[in-house]
Amino acid sequence: MGQQAIVRAGRHTVRRRLAARARDKLRSVVADDPAVADKALPYAGGASTFTIPAPPAERDGGGPRDRPVPPADRWDLPDETDPQVYLDSGEETARLLVAQLGRHGVELAPDPTVLDFGCGYGRVVRWLGGWAEAGAVWGADVDGERIEWARRCLGPPFQFVTITSGAHLPFEDDMFDLVVGHSVLPHIADGADAWMLELRRVTRPGGHLYLTVYDDHTAARIRQGTGSPDLAAPLAEAEARAGRLGDGADLIALNRRVGGAQVFRSTAWIERVWGAWFDIVSMEPDAFHLQTGVLLRKRARR
Ligand SMILES: C[S@@+](CC[C@H](N)C(=O)[O-])C[C@H]1O[C@@H](n2cnc3c(N)ncnc32)[C@H](O)[C@@H]1O
Repeated sequence: MGQQAIVRAGRHTVRRRLAARARDKLRSVVADDPAVADKALPYAGGASTFTIPAPPAERDGGGPRDRPVPPADRWDLPDETDPQVYLDSGEETARLLVAQLGRHGVELAPDPTVLDFGCGYGRVVRWLGGWAEAGAVWGADVDGERIEWARRCLGPPFQFVTITSGAHLPFEDDMFDLVVGHSVLPHIADGADAWMLELRRVTRPGGHLYLTVYDDHTAARIRQGTGSPDLAAPLAEAEARAGRLGDGADLIALNRRVGGAQVFRSTAWIERVWGAWFDIVSMEPDAFHLQTGVLLRKRARR
């Protein structure tokens, strides 16, 4: 290549890199702007061409422990240290869910229809194979990477769908007997009310929702230094300005951005706002790490 061609190619590369940087910057500005609604986090976002690899052979057959485990650098929970811990944590979460339902006399039909809202990589979904074989288990998440992984690696009998942050689910009214959301509502700062009403829409009358939340109890544990140390300083700062959660502040949202916020709702707020929309069956602290498990029932239509 001649000298001039090399200079031209160099300029072209620099221009391309600058354009890519500007595009990334713009994307993050738009994505983090709460006034811009309905964010999508598609699979391979930013690529104009994408491919999805075929399912790995080990997907089929065997139980929940035999199927692939997502890449370690993507695990959601801080205490997941290796694949066995990842698998154990999902099994334990599913066990606690069934236990809380059982304590309150919630009996699912033998062929239930279940939605895991904000399912991530299907950490919990993979343990719901009995329900999926007899009925249907769906996982929905705004994160296209997670959903494509889950569909590829957990696949049938489970079903997955990527949604956007706009409060809409592509399901019929009254479709689900049970809707669960582990550690999802604490990460939705904007549009959470509309999401609750959307979750209510797809739940059948008399059906249940099980959602874990940050509430007064969670805030107290963080203040005592018994968990989530990274949240202690921002929570203290917000409470210094607005009053303690449950004693001056009703709701505190930290790190506001799609999918990554940390939202504390006071117990009084949950009872007042969600209690107007659902029967509150139980609220159990420390149901999922520091989070409280809230069991709700959709009222029968009047
Ligand atoms: C802490 S992770 C928990 C994942 C999974 N529920 C579990 O327990 O392993 C939170 C998940 O909620 C998802 N999420 C956040 N906002 C959402 C929304 N508006 N709709 C659906 N999923 C959402 C995130 O993409 C992420 O996968």
